[in-house]
Amino acid sequence: MFHIDDAEINHIRENADIVEIVSSYIPLTQKGKNFFGVCPFHNDHAPSMSVSSEKGIFKCFSCGATGNVFKFVSDFENISFVEAVQKIAEKVGITLKSQIVTKKAKKNSLEYQIMDFSSLFFQNNLMTEKGLTALNYLKSRALDEDTIKEFQIGLSFSSNSLYELLKTKKYENKTLVNLGLINQNGLNFHDIFVHRIMFPIHNINGETVGFTGRIYQKDSTPPKYLNSKESYIFKKGNILFNFHRAKDAIRIAKKVILVEGNMDAIRMYSVGIKNTIALMGTSLTSYQIQELKKLRVPIVLMFDNDSAGNIATYQNGNLLEKEGMNVSVVRLSGEKDPDDYIIKNGVEKIQNNIKNAISFLEFKLSYLKQNKNLQDSEDLANYIKEVLENMKDTTDPILKEITLKKLSEDYGVSLVTLKEELEKIRKNEQIEVKITPKEESQNKNAKSADSIHHILYFMMNDPKYILMYKSKLGYFKDANYRGLANEILAYYEIHKTINLADFLTYAESSKLKEEIYKITTSIKDENINEQIMEEYIVAVRKKMKEQEIKELKEQQKQELDENRKLNIAMRIQALKKEV
Ligand code: CTP
Ligand code: MN
Repeated sequence: MFHIDDAEINHIRENADIVEIVSSYIPLTQKGKNFFGVCPFHNDHAPSMSVSSEKGIFKCFSCGATGNVFKFVSDFENISFVEAVQKIAEKVGITLKSQIVTKKAKKNSLEYQIMDFSSLFFQNNLMTEKGLTALNYLKSRALDEDTIKEFQIGLSFSSNSLYELLKTKKYENKTLVNLGLINQNGLNFHDIFVHRIMFPIHNINGETVGFTGRIYQKDSTPPKYLNSKESYIFKKGNILFNFHRAKDAIRIAKKVILVEGNMDAIRMYSVGIKNTIALMGTSLTSYQIQELKKLRVPIVLMFDNDSAGNIATYQNGNLLEKEGMNVSVVRLSGEKDPDDYIIKNGVEKIQNNIKNAISFLEFKLSYLKQNKNLQDSEDLANYIKEVLENMKDTTDPILKEITLKKLSEDYGVSLVTLKEELEKIRKNEQIEVKITPKEESQNKNAKSADSIHHILYFMMNDPKYILMYKSKLGYFKDANYRGLANEILAYYEIHKTINLADFLTYAESSKLKEEIYKITTSIKDENINEQIMEEYIVAVRKKMKEQEIKELKEQQKQELDENRKLNIAMRIQALKKEV
């Protein structure tokens, strides 16, 4: 991995004015000492993000996103921390001393090399005389040569042509088999892809990790699409087809369109709707959802126009909405999928459909209607109940109001009743949450975690809070928090000073990176002073003592020796006094 010297990174940061850098991405206006802008890391219109030259950090008061200039650029551009450092160094005219950075060895480079080489081979095949039928097939599907080149579409030939070629390059058989390109049968090796049109598949960084091959002749053996076998570089659940090409367009369009098939994504891209990626016919995995979430733009689901596409919309939409993404839906009519739709109706028509995408809630209203006879009062009651249940996570108050009104008008149920019912559904939940003892103790823990978060946050900001922690608290019971406190102490030992902007740079290479960002983003209240720190320390100390009392009581119960029992009782008394 990387190792740019800490001192070098800090030097770059000191020379990069965060206000200047951030304002090259989003407009900022000055208010007093700070600058404010609309936070790009959540869906917002109000200027809730403040940027401070003096502190060298940005902070959103609405979503909590925070960090230094490197964090902003790496999150905004979806690039690694090191890439962000390089980019900013360039911007401020500093040449990096650490050469390793640009020359960092790529992991699995041999595997990617084999994949790229195979891809070139397939592409070349398509342009030979023997590739004519396949090329004509692609042309009959209205794919022009530019698109074929752009998507590196190729062709596999009979039996062993790829294997024979790779053999001359002296690659190990084992590697080729592991990569899912070649099959082993006893002592024989043969190609997995035979007579198929080959589409390379890239990971989100744009490296070729596999292929999907489509049949194109009438008498071919199914399946229609054959994918590379999963390998250590190709995991289907990690792939979003066309992600690496679409990234820039997604940022510009401020939205991402998700379709089902690779051909749909290729078509959309080739007609200029480049912010499209495809799912390759599967359900979203949590890895894919996290990658989509990182884009921080609304998502439009435009799946096939069949019942499978309808169900996929409902299921994937729910998954995305649970993760707090802004989801809308396009249901095309007439043609089978976006590819066919564009061929038949043209770009403008599909653009209109995308412009008029309905909210996911509205989609659910019609989805839940299926197979119900709303003339029947029991079905109608069920329907309304399902809709209200589906609405309880909807955060947009206007959308909620409109939906309830529409329900009321369409089905003659009074608006007041609907609101009461929705409230009941919500309250039911709340009551459940309150009465379960587990939830209650979680709540208490949350409060104590909040105090610890503040203490750690203060410590990352100013050495005087580190000293307060050392003299008044000394440790945390929780190993993770203790680990982080120790890291802060160690950092302070080495640098003899601390500020959040530099500590966040250090955090990037720390094991506790996640923990640190969790804490910095959870702090909504910027107020820092010794008195507040004192209050949090008191709260944590109290909590620790209560915990200790509880443990001693347990011991006391099990202790048989009367003397020792008395001793424990006295310790409990003393602790109780302190609390
Ligand atoms: N798929 C697959 N294996 C199959 C069929 C489909 O892996 N036997 C995946 C492919 O990634 C495909 C996606 O599911 O892109 C959607 O399937 P489908 O709608 O049938 O394919 P289309 O994209 O419409 O492909 P085409 O237009 O070439 O028929
Ligand atoms: Mn299709």
